[in-house]
This record gives sequence, C-alpha cells and structure tokens, in this order.
Amino acid sequence: MCGIVAYIGTRPARSLLVEGLKRLEYRGYDSAGVAVIDAKNSPAKIQLAKAVGRVSNLEKRLEGTTWNGTMGIGHTRWATHGGVTEANAHPHTDDGVGIALIHNGIIENYAVLRTYLEQKGHTFVTDTDTEVLTMLIGELYDAANGVDLEAAVQAALREVTGAYAICVICKEEPDVIVAARKGSPLIVGIGNGEYIVASDPQAIIAHTAQAMTLDDYNVVKITRDGFRTSTIDNVEVTPQVLQLESELDEIDLGGYEHYMQKEIFEQPAALRNTLRGRLDMKDGRVVLGGVSAFAKDLVRARRIIMIAQGTALHSAMIAEYLFEDLARMPTECEYASEFRYRNPIVDDGTVVMAVSQSGETADTLAALHEARDRGALTLGVVNVVGSTMARETDAGVYLRVGPEIGVASTKAFTGQVAVLSMLSLFLGRRRLMSPQTASELQTELAMIPDKIEQILALAPEIKAMTERYVQHDNWLFLGRGVNYPVALEGALKLKELSYIHAEGMPAAEMKHGPIALITEGMPAVFIANKGAQYEKVLSNIAETRSRGGHVIAVATEGDKHIRSVAEDVLFIPECPEPLSPMLTVVPLQIMAYYAALARGHDVDKPRNLAKSVTVE
Ligand code: G6P
Repeated sequence: MCGIVAYIGTRPARSLLVEGLKRLEYRGYDSAGVAVIDAKNSPAKIQLAKAVGRVSNLEKRLEGTTWNGTMGIGHTRWATHGGVTEANAHPHTDDGVGIALIHNGIIENYAVLRTYLEQKGHTFVTDTDTEVLTMLIGELYDAANGVDLEAAVQAALREVTGAYAICVICKEEPDVIVAARKGSPLIVGIGNGEYIVASDPQAIIAHTAQAMTLDDYNVVKITRDGFRTSTIDNVEVTPQVLQLESELDEIDLGGYEHYMQKEIFEQPAALRNTLRGRLDMKDGRVVLGGVSAFAKDLVRARRIIMIAQGTALHSAMIAEYLFEDLARMPTECEYASEFRYRNPIVDDGTVVMAVSQSGETADTLAALHEARDRGALTLGVVNVVGSTMARETDAGVYLRVGPEIGVASTKAFTGQVAVLSMLSLFLGRRRLMSPQTASELQTELAMIPDKIEQILALAPEIKAMTERYVQHDNWLFLGRGVNYPVALEGALKLKELSYIHAEGMPAAEMKHGPIALITEGMPAVFIANKGAQYEKVLSNIAETRSRGGHVIAVATEGDKHIRSVAEDVLFIPECPEPLSPMLTVVPLQIMAYYAALARGHDVDKPRNLAKSVTVE
C-alpha cells in the first residue's frame, strides 16, 4: 500500500520521482505528490505539488514548473486515515521548521500524539496520521542543540506505535534524506553518486541493481557522499547489500495492453522458470535448494499450518489438499489475520508456511512472527527476492515468476501452486510415495506450461462467451476437492476486477443456502474437470440447471457428456487431478480480465485495491 520513492544525487529529482511513482502506482492510486529541495536557492525552500487521482494528474500539475533541485521525495497514496483529498495526499509538511515527509503504514497512536502536539500549539490541516508524525519530528528538531533531522526522526519514532516506511527531508538540511522502516517495506538503491529509496525494487531497477535492505526500526541518513544506518536508538548497524534481480523489460508492458493481460499470457514462460532445475525425474526427487537444509524437520513434522491472505490463501488451501493427499502430512490452512490473534496452538513439530507474492503483507508477516515466537519452524513461499518474509523465515522457496504488477494476482497464483505442488512431491517422496508415482507426477508437472499455452489459445472464445453474460450482477463459482479453492479464486478475480458480485464455494455447499440465489439465467461456473468427484459435480450442475441457472463448465478435453449438461464449456487439456488447479484457473482469469474490460474498468488498478497490503 502506498508507493514511496526518494532521490538524492546530481540529476533533477522531479522527473525521476514522477517516473518512479508511475512504476509504483499499482501500490496505491488515489492521490500522489512530490516535494523537492533546491539547495542552490538561498535560503533553501521546499517545492511541493500534490494531485488527487493518478500520477498522470500530478504530472499535469507539474507542467511548466522549473524545479531544478536534485533531491526530493514522492508518494502515491492508498488512503487509510482521512479521505481522498489533495490536503490528505503526501508529502505532508510541518508548521515550523520546514520538514516534508512521505509515509506508508499506520501510526496507531496518532490521536494521543496529535492532542499532545495541539497542546504545544501546532495546527493541523489534514485528517491523517502522517501529518502527526511530521509535526512531531518538527517539534523535536533542535539543530542548535544537536537534534538534527536524523536525531529528530529517531526520537519521534521512539514515540510511535504502528507501522511505517518513511522518507523525510528538511529545508534546514538540504543535502540529507532520512528514511526509516518498521513493518512496511523500504529499500535503498545505491547508484553512482546517487541514491534512490523506494518501497519496491521497480522504482530502483532502471537506475541501479545494487540495493541495501533495512530491518525494522532501522533509520538511514543519506547524503550524496554516503549513508549511515542506525537503529531508532542510534546504535549503528551494518546494512545488507543485495543485487536486485529483475530486468527492466520484466516491468514494462512489452506490447500488451495491460499488465494483467501480460501476466496471464506469460504464465507458461513464468512456470517454466519456476520448475527449471527443480525436477529430477530419475528417482522422483524434487530439488528445492531453499529448504533442503530443513528436509529432515519437514519430513518429520507433525503438522503444517499454511498462512496467507487473498489469492495466496487460495494457493495455500490447494496445498492443504496436496500435502495431505500426496504426502499424508496433516495440514491446516488459515487466514494469517486470524491466526495471529487467536492464540494458536503451535506444538512441537509444527511447521508454519507463509505464502505471499510480495513477501510484505502485514498480516502474514505478523502471523509469521507469532509462529516464530511460539517455536515453529517458519517457511516462506514468496515471489519477491529479498522481501521481508524471504529474509525473516527460516527457509523457503522462491516462485521465480518475475515481478507481478497487475493488482489482481495471476502468474503468482499459478507459480505458488507449482511450488506447493513441488513441495508436496518433495515431502511425499521422502515419506511414502514410490519413485515411480513421484516421477510420473513430475513428468506431468513439467507439461503444465505447454498445457496452459493451449488454454491461452482459447482467449478469443472465452472473451466472446464472457461478453454474453457480463451484464449479470451475480455469479456463482463452484468446485470440489482441490478445485474448490480455484472456485474461490475465480470468484475473487471476477469481483475485484469487474465489481460483479461473485461467490465461490464447494459445489456441495450450494444446497445449504446459496441455491436460493439462483434465478433464471444466473451464471454458475462449475469446475467440472475429470477427477474423483466428477459425477458429484454433474449432480450439482443438474440441481443448478433445474432452477434456471446458466451453467458454464470448465471441463476436460474429450468429455462429450458435459456439452449436454452445460450451456457453455471451456475445455482444458487432460491432467492428473492434483495438478489441475494450474489449468482450471486460467480460463477463470481470462474471463475476469475480459469482464472488467467489457464493463469499462481499469483492469490493472481496480477500485479501492492495492497490490501489496502492508497495513492490517
Ligand atoms: C492483496 C492483493 C492480492 C494478494 C493479497 C496477498 O489483496 O491485491 O492480489 O493476493 O494482497 O498478497 P501477497 O503479496 O501476500 O501474496
């Protein structure tokens, strides 16, 4: 949530900041702003511009301005405290010293701090928690007595509870940026005589591949000549430097109209990358370097608890089926947001596995901390290299699907399911699975990318079908077994992109209530591929049809019967049931994409959402 970018160097900051914000816009897009200091002006002053709406509105606002400053901060907002107004947009400024600040996160004790600051005579002009932090830094700033910007930020953060990633500038110190983090992502790109601080690598990678990560409670003071990293208690720390892995072309549209479209269509290539070097057909052993040091603990674990949010939770739910079915490993799956607050039992032999595209989701991170404190071995199935979860888990497996920019997750979902399928074979083969079964499943797994390619070729057909039903405001998605989570994912994709009300559920559950919703012509999407419960799904289809529901079935190629029971059929290639979610989900992604377009929505930036949810 909220994109942060800051620059200090020798180039004009304004255009660099705007370019960075455009790359980060998927994190939040209700308003944007930049602040630049021109050190050559005497006395230095902060130049500030904000606009409601997209970064392009801010860009228009900046047209004709002649800002020459070579350091500054920029922000794109996903509102928490305070409505979407220009005043509430970041950067926020104080009412005295001349401080500007951008923030991602939530200052939880802002009300108490605001009362304290009001008593001190400060006047607030916004409804935000961020303005309170800005004002507090201004209140504590006392350069004459040694409390410079770095010290004032440290002192203010010692008073704060909540989550933050911040960048702060001050007109009294026009050659300094101070940045800090706790609970929200922030990295510092190290260039040649310049630094770019950002919430994500996407804003950095065009300028440098070398970056430094910050841990919670770290503060970094950056000048053009170098940086100093410390804790909020001013204890010096040595930062970790890493090489960013993405390439610039991975984060460009590359001929596609939307990131979501690109990410759906690059799934075959992305999954080939996920699987590369990890399958060993000879004796059926999967090679997962990231967890091999913990293989024994995993094999001997008494139970696995999967935690995640959103689309990642649906992958985790699939893992629950796979781990129990293929590895006979007791597995539970839970919303991280529930796990963290419900006093969970983490006994000896419990492994807690987090699934996350970003590796930064606040609830998942907090649940991981809870699990770690209770003695669990923690594992991460994460996409973003070097993300907080990747660094803070005991071990893990990267998805390797490349950056995902579209807010609605697609290739990360299939990547997660591919990794979790490999993990189930990794475990299964070491626990009870014969080498032959393991090899067969690996061979099938290796064929998934080609099969997805075949489904993608049906996009025009899926588009035409979607456009026939897109006027319906209520849809159902139904599946059984390992495809029940796919029904949930299909419903989530449709609702988050097209704002159509959609519910996903186990097909058998329909008659316990939701069947009352079925009216003449209501679309009901059934995952009806060949599998153990195929006949049962057919019965549920019949129940829906006899009440006037309009059945769209995702079925296995060669299934002749299905055409006589469903109005529309989308075929997927044959595939063993445990691996089928990576195929059955693809037509649902394509449907959601075209439904959103047909309804005239912004597919990559759906209403009210953000890509990475770094607040509770
Ligand atoms: C947000 C995104 C979803 C994502 C979820 C979990 O809601 O819009 O696409 O599935 O967060 O994010 P994570 O990065 O932990 O997978």
